[in-house]
Amino acid sequence: MKNTSKITTASATKFSQQILAWYHEHGRKHLPWQDNKTPYRVWVSEIMLQQTQVATVIGYYQKFMKSFPTVIDLANAEQDEVLHHWTGLGYYARARNLHKTAQIIAEQYQGEFPQDIEGVIALPGIGRSTAGAILSLSRKEHHAILDGNVKRVLARCYLVQGHNGQAIYEKSLWPIAEKLTPKKGVQFYNQAMMDIGASICTRSSPKCDICPVQSHCIAYATNEQTNYPQKKPKKIIPEKSTIMVIPRLKQRVLMEKRAPAGIWGGLWCFYEVNQTEQINALLTKLNLKEYQREELSTFRHTFSHFHLDISPIVIDVEQIVSKEINDHAEQQWYNLHHKVEVGLAASTLKLIKHLEQR
Ligand code: ADE
Ligand code: SF4
Repeated sequence: MKNTSKITTASATKFSQQILAWYHEHGRKHLPWQDNKTPYRVWVSEIMLQQTQVATVIGYYQKFMKSFPTVIDLANAEQDEVLHHWTGLGYYARARNLHKTAQIIAEQYQGEFPQDIEGVIALPGIGRSTAGAILSLSRKEHHAILDGNVKRVLARCYLVQGHNGQAIYEKSLWPIAEKLTPKKGVQFYNQAMMDIGASICTRSSPKCDICPVQSHCIAYATNEQTNYPQKKPKKIIPEKSTIMVIPRLKQRVLMEKRAPAGIWGGLWCFYEVNQTEQINALLTKLNLKEYQREELSTFRHTFSHFHLDISPIVIDVEQIVSKEINDHAEQQWYNLHHKVEVGLAASTLKLIKHLEQR
């Protein structure tokens, strides 16, 4: 259904009332970002929640807020420190954009979020839905939201054709979201829609028997809940492989900081080569003398657009030949037993955990 005029005003009012009643009875109201709801605090939580479950986000969020209580603190932090707080969350572009946006807000907006939604949408890493969430949850402004979970609820209720990533899908959903979003209680309504999408109207077995909008749901009435949203054609992603070289000196392993862009931009990683024949040249360049090496088993790390098979090789090295290879800005001997606060790629973290246990 693409024509929102099919949703009458009376029906839209009923829909939002049922959502609000559900919220007041069942909604979660004491998550860390629901206290002291400033745009800054809501923004950080929304970015963390974009690809990560609530249960995982809680701990990360609390540490983040302790280190960066205000947008100014975040703007003034080193990028390394911000990325460190993201270690394990993945999708590091989120953290880099958070940092960039904090600096824009500090420098161009006197530390306050822009007053209009267009200004918020113009900030790096903030789309229309996230902007709507920030301004509705923190300032009670009347904006609709449409994250992946909310889209699923609406697609099922109103049999919206298409799937995530298709322009027609989004284009049909926004007017529906806007028609349904109430002026009064918008902050509760939006929160409840995200919660219902995440916990009741789930992808594979929606809990329709406890759903507050069952009476509006066409997919429920016709028993085709799991046909909406429609299936995305399965994407075949390429397989790549790499060899990670891990020079080790007693309890320390040598890492390098990657250039700012790319999948691991700004993160600390091990050195990579394409072929084992290149290892000796790398060691020579690093001024290291090998006395033994050990190949660890290959493991796969899957990014959104490719698989990466990582074959790690630990090279035990003798005392460094020259002191030139000391820690400097782009290179460090990471002590496996004394953590330092830097951003690590997920695969680096996995390897470090493995090495710690040996
Ligand atoms: N996912 C994105 N934003 C969320 C929120 N505010 N509450 C629960 N899940 C979310
Ligand atoms: Fe989702 Fe079922 Fe509720 Fe429809 S009735 S919105 S399919 S949970």
